[in-house]
This record gives sequence, structure tokens and C-alpha cells, in this order.
Amino acid sequence: MTTVAIVYFSGSGHTHLMAQAVAAGASQVEGTKVELLRITGEQIVNGRWQDDRILEQLSQADAIVFGTPTYMGGVAAQFKAFLDAASTAWFTQQWKDKIAGGFTHSSSLSGDKQGTLIYLSINAAQHSMIWVGVGDLPSIYQGKTDGLNRLGSFLGVMGQSAMNLSGGEAMLDSGDRLTAEKYGQRIAQAAQRWSLQPIPALA
Ligand SMILES: Cc1cc2nc3c(=O)[nH]c(=O)nc-3n(C[C@H](O)[C@H](O)[C@H](O)COP(=O)(O)O)c2cc1C
Repeated sequence: MTTVAIVYFSGSGHTHLMAQAVAAGASQVEGTKVELLRITGEQIVNGRWQDDRILEQLSQADAIVFGTPTYMGGVAAQFKAFLDAASTAWFTQQWKDKIAGGFTHSSSLSGDKQGTLIYLSINAAQHSMIWVGVGDLPSIYQGKTDGLNRLGSFLGVMGQSAMNLSGGEAMLDSGDRLTAEKYGQRIAQAAQRWSLQPIPALA
């Protein structure tokens, strides 16, 4: 059994829907246990994020998928506070060789979401994790502007929908949901492959 942990922040629910889609995809891969771990602003006390239970769950996972809305072209402050606090795991390289991936949601078509994914992948590299990209060709190659990987992101999954100014229920584009679901499958499969490989001893 391999464990895929999805750790994320969501202010108004869109990133939460993406996290659920990644979880649904990962769950479809037999032999996978999925954990959805949502970061909240309340976990930040005196400027420092704290939740030992979540850090313990992450230390046990075979794969960690990071999710955050894009705020001001980058990772949301609440999620960055978590990532900074997780530097305790970095000091001992506790996450080394775990599979890693990332997703983000924002309101503009671009919205500079790439900046968020680049940062998430750098953070994973600092932890010596194995980053997994999307692996699905953009739907434009089937002549469609909707559907699987409609936003044409390879580094991680992007989702986009207009900001809900009236405060109603968050909605996710069906193509972005599909992309996130397939990414969850890919992460779970990568985690199984990676954990099954015997590591040859070095001379
Ligand atoms: C402080 C703040 C900064 C934002 N910056 C961006 C941005 O740089 N690009 C963009 O497209 N949307 C931006 N947005 C819109 C959010 O990305 C969008 O509402 C997102 O879907 C929220 O995700 P959530 O529902 O999971 O909280 C911003 C929103 C907030 C509150």
C-alpha cells in the first residue's frame, strides 16, 4: 500500500475542489491510500504555521501533492507559512525521494499561475523530492479549447475560473477537474513504481 498525501490551502473553495479531484484520481489506483490535508490560516500562530499531526502524516506518505491558489502571482501566504514551517523536515531531509507534485487555481486565464508552480517545484527540489509533471497533451492539439489540460500546463495542474464576487459556491471547470483527476492517477502510479524499485547498492 502506498500513501498519497494532498496538502493544500483554499480560501474560497476552488483549490479544495482541485484537491478532491486529485484525490479521486489517486484513489482509482489500486493499493493507494489517499489523505486530504487542508491547511488553514488559523494554524498560523504568531506568524508561524503549526500542526504536528499534519507534519507527521506527511512524513509517512510516499507522495506529497502541494496545492494552493495563486495570490499575487505566487503561493498564497497561508500555504507559504506551512512550507516554511516544513523546513523542519528539510533539515533532516525527511521528504527525500518522496514523489512530489503540485497544482494551483486562479481567476485569470494566465494570472501568473506558472510562478506558483515553479515555486512549488523548487520547494520540492530543496526537499530532494522527485517532481512529477502533468503528462497530458493540451486539448488544443485535439482542436479544443476545453477538456483535458486545456490550459496547457506541463509542470503541474492549473485550474481557472472567474472569481465569485457574489460569494456563491465555488465551481471547477470540467476540463480542469479531469486534468487534476488524471494527475492524481499519475502521481499514485509513480509512487507505486518508485517504491517498488529495488535500489542497487553502490560500490
Ligand atoms: C490576495 C489575492 C491575490 C490574488 N492574486 C491573483 C493572481 O495573481 N492571479 C489570478 O489570476 N488570480 C488572483 N487571485 C484570485 C484567486 O487566485 C482566485 O480567487 C482563486 O481561485 C482562489 O482559490 P480558492 O477558491 O481555492 O481560494 C487573487 C486573490 C486574492 C484573494
